[in-house]
Amino acid sequence: MTALSVSTSSAASLRADALVVGVAKGPKGIVLAPGSEAVNEAFEGKLTEVLSTLGATGAEGEAVKVPSPAGLKAALVLAVGLGEAAETGYQLEALRRAAGVAARTLAGAKKAALALPAESADEVEAVALGGLLGSYSFGTYKADGSGKEPVGELVVLAPRKGSKDAKAAVERAAAVGEEMNRARDLVNTAPNDLNPKSFAAIAQAAGKEHGLKVEVLDEKALLKGGFGGLLGVGNGSDNPPRLVKVAYTHPKAKATLAFIGKGITYDSGGISLKPAGHNETMKCDMAGAAAVFAAVVAAKRLGLAVNVTGWLALAENMPSGSATRPGDVLRMYGGKTVEVLNTDAEGRLVLADAIVRAGEENPDVIVDVATLTGAMVLALGNRTFGVMSNNDELRATLHTVSGEVGEQSWPMPLPAELRKGMTESTIADLANMGERMGGGLVAGLFLKEFVAEGIDWAHLDIAGPAFHESAPFGYTPKGGTASAVRTLVRFAEQTAAGGKA
Ligand code: BES
Ligand code: MN
Ligand code: ZN
Repeated sequence: MTALSVSTSSAASLRADALVVGVAKGPKGIVLAPGSEAVNEAFEGKLTEVLSTLGATGAEGEAVKVPSPAGLKAALVLAVGLGEAAETGYQLEALRRAAGVAARTLAGAKKAALALPAESADEVEAVALGGLLGSYSFGTYKADGSGKEPVGELVVLAPRKGSKDAKAAVERAAAVGEEMNRARDLVNTAPNDLNPKSFAAIAQAAGKEHGLKVEVLDEKALLKGGFGGLLGVGNGSDNPPRLVKVAYTHPKAKATLAFIGKGITYDSGGISLKPAGHNETMKCDMAGAAAVFAAVVAAKRLGLAVNVTGWLALAENMPSGSATRPGDVLRMYGGKTVEVLNTDAEGRLVLADAIVRAGEENPDVIVDVATLTGAMVLALGNRTFGVMSNNDELRATLHTVSGEVGEQSWPMPLPAELRKGMTESTIADLANMGERMGGGLVAGLFLKEFVAEGIDWAHLDIAGPAFHESAPFGYTPKGGTASAVRTLVRFAEQTAAGGKA
């Protein structure tokens, strides 16, 4: 794992393999970003000229390498693009992405120093987090030495004043970034290795390490408890389902949040089997559960003054002689019946059980996170998750919070008329499918049926951003992204600060 630290040393005197500076697009050519002063001095004030000659434009995503002149202790200077030059400080997301590009470009190096804008604690945190996330690599299945090792050590250079704040900021970045990278590992692990049982075991071990209380309901306990959704989805698989509860409590907490994650360790579609072309990435269908787990551990590491309970609804959706059929009726936890018209609409079934179970503990807010519908990907694309809620204010809050931490989201409605299609077409209380149009909203409306009276609830459909299939960008690698972790953590932070959710 990449080591992260902060230093108030001058960029010129720090021994490292590479020194990273920021460059942006100014009105008259490229401009250097704050933090690069000492490096520019070593170039006798000609760093912009050198970089222009090499073709640097300052565009986001750009990385230009220059050999160091005498006077710098690092062999290499790397200039990363920040986009448009900012007069009043760079956007934190521009800093995260630039630091991420630097870390990716410098894979294989032992030590890199980041001389990017880092005056405020927020900037220090952004640079550190972007660097840590950009350093991520998943090597579990690769022969040793077949790929470049991630950069070994990242040093964030910060001005001397406020160095205590800077240290705390880097620690915050490490807590969030390391847990996000844990979520990415879980998502990237092949589904023949990560099943409900092994996921639960990982959660138990990691929970113990961090002093969290973890309870696991196995298939026997689920049967005894009447968790018909989890059991119905898990029926067709040789790997039985699990419901995992991870609890973080704080003695001064004035509010309790319940985070629920969809944890389908593989979604084949079940008897309503997905065709080839739609199943190759379906190991990512547990990204919600991974995000929730990561967020609870991060909340603990940050010591937030709020209680956070994570619920991981884990099952594998497979076809077999014992699988749930389209037409079967399941009795869900809490007693509602559901006619399963399409076994590929399985996420809502495992989530419904978890929502009812979580509601019994009377949390102030429930937020579920799920790779729930292809319809949401059609609506919002690959980088934006949808936010639905039974409370307009909560939906707006989560949307705002996601923007603050650099996650793209958009508020989506739960139109009452779409509910009909799920209730009128069935012999049970509900069907697990309704109208095709607005499928992401129909799924949200289904979940809403299981939220206890009086509880504020929101649903994040991360089917688009959870898994990144094209070329890496900024701090986002291929594969699992840890979508929604930062939104959940910031929401918990804000709840802790406000006392009540
Ligand atoms: N896991 C899928 C949704 C998904 C699609 C996640 C693409 C990530 C990328 C979910 O279980 C699913 O299959 N949903 C169906 C629902 C339909 C049968 C009502 C869908 O979206 O097609
Ligand atoms: Mn499915
Ligand atoms: Zn699914």
